[in-house]
Amino acid sequence: MSVTMDTLVSLCKRRGFIFQSSEIYGGTGSCWDYGPLGVELKQNIKRLWWRDYIQRRPDMVGLDASILMHPTVWKASGHVDNFTDPMVDCLECRRRFRADKVDETPWVHYCAATKGNKFTIPAGEPCSHCGERRTLCPECGKGSLTPPRQFNLMFKTFMGPVEEDASLTYLRPETAQGIFVNFDNVAQSMRRKLPFGIGQIGKAFRNEITPGNFIFRTREFEQMEIEYFVNPRDTVEGKPADEYWHERWIADSLAWFQRYGLREENLRLREHEKDELAHYAKRTADIEYRFPIGWSELMGIANRTDFDLKQHAQFSGKALSYFDEERKEHVVPYVIEPSAGVDRALLAFLADAYQEEEVRGEKRVVLRFHPELAPVKVAILPLLKKRDDVVRTAHAIRDTLAKHWTVVYDDTAAIGRLYRRQDEVGTPYCVTVDVQTVGDTDKGESADGKVTIRDRDSMEQVRVPIDALPTVFLDLLSGGSWSAVASRFR
Ligand code: GAP
Repeated sequence: MSVTMDTLVSLCKRRGFIFQSSEIYGGTGSCWDYGPLGVELKQNIKRLWWRDYIQRRPDMVGLDASILMHPTVWKASGHVDNFTDPMVDCLECRRRFRADKVDETPWVHYCAATKGNKFTIPAGEPCSHCGERRTLCPECGKGSLTPPRQFNLMFKTFMGPVEEDASLTYLRPETAQGIFVNFDNVAQSMRRKLPFGIGQIGKAFRNEITPGNFIFRTREFEQMEIEYFVNPRDTVEGKPADEYWHERWIADSLAWFQRYGLREENLRLREHEKDELAHYAKRTADIEYRFPIGWSELMGIANRTDFDLKQHAQFSGKALSYFDEERKEHVVPYVIEPSAGVDRALLAFLADAYQEEEVRGEKRVVLRFHPELAPVKVAILPLLKKRDDVVRTAHAIRDTLAKHWTVVYDDTAAIGRLYRRQDEVGTPYCVTVDVQTVGDTDKGESADGKVTIRDRDSMEQVRVPIDALPTVFLDLLSGGSWSAVASRFR
């Protein structure tokens, strides 16, 4: 069963993943705040991406460029002239629409060519009698629509105390440009040889005309971008280097999402048609995910050629090239750009992890997150909160494990309820502390020093000595299987 967006939105609010921004003031359109569990999940996505792509690869380095950049950057990159959507305005209700979206729904037309007869024209089609397209507002149905005008999606702002044209700049609409303008700094300071990549995670801003679908399309979002520089004169395995690396990055990116839990049947590749390619791209392939709203872009992998480096060289007057020692010549590298949205990745991981099942006649909602993604790794649950020694032991275990992982303590309900709560937020393991753990002197029962670990997915339980917990969780949370680890204690 696939989950609906409404179910995810409601779970996210109820369980502290994501809240509407400025909710007490009625909310801010398309802006969202990540709550205590959402921020953990988001950090985990970014941490895994950084570890896998920057830390572990010898051909990659990281960067954290500023959001506000020299305004000429956006002239050179083409964003001032090309990062636009054609818009039409309703002269009556003043609403604004993307020109290519106004006839996405059927419309009512009184056709002059047929003495004013009324027709319902199907979505996307002109009237078959007079050839007219929708001319009235799709919302209020009364106002005429203006001819299309280009609307730039970049947010404008001013640097310094005076709001004048000279101090106009933009919030970056992509993190990529921070990498291009630092190409030479990084290549020189880190003595890099081609091919090599620079990765960056950070916020981007776009004044989207039609934001929506929860965190899928927002005006403020985060990107994880790589610019991978290759020598266009090289060939690898019989292919031009840029085309070879483009294929490699497409395969790597697909594998990355699958490694952390997205199911193969929910992922697909879509090539951009020639007429939809961005102004800088030779080829772009999108990885699409089957979101609750249908198949939509999760990330894009573009071949940006030498467009950006050449543009910045031209506008800045600084050479942005690489000296090819073998050929004894300067060359402007080509760039392969795997670009993913953090928020969209989070939405995809959330949707894929969500499951409802029946357990002993009751509904169980469980987020089957990969353990490395799960916001909380271990929950410590005392079985008897009236017993001081049980509670003390549970807190002590929490303190020890919290040195390594995000761990919570909860004693606010009966054990069945506590397990369900942790299942619903995707906590892979729960530890319960009971009377056997600490012993019962009144009954002459000695402490066994063991606790019960419960596995979220199988709901199996195994009793483990307290001292063994750090090594057990190190194993389980770094890829060890539950059955292998549990069998050591049976
Ligand atoms: N530097 C290339 C670039 O920015 P893009 O396809 O416009 O390419 C890359 O954006 C990724 O950023 C998208 O695949 C998506 O995951 C994310 N993204 C773009 N616009 C977004 C928005 N308005 N809200 C949330 N995520 C967005």
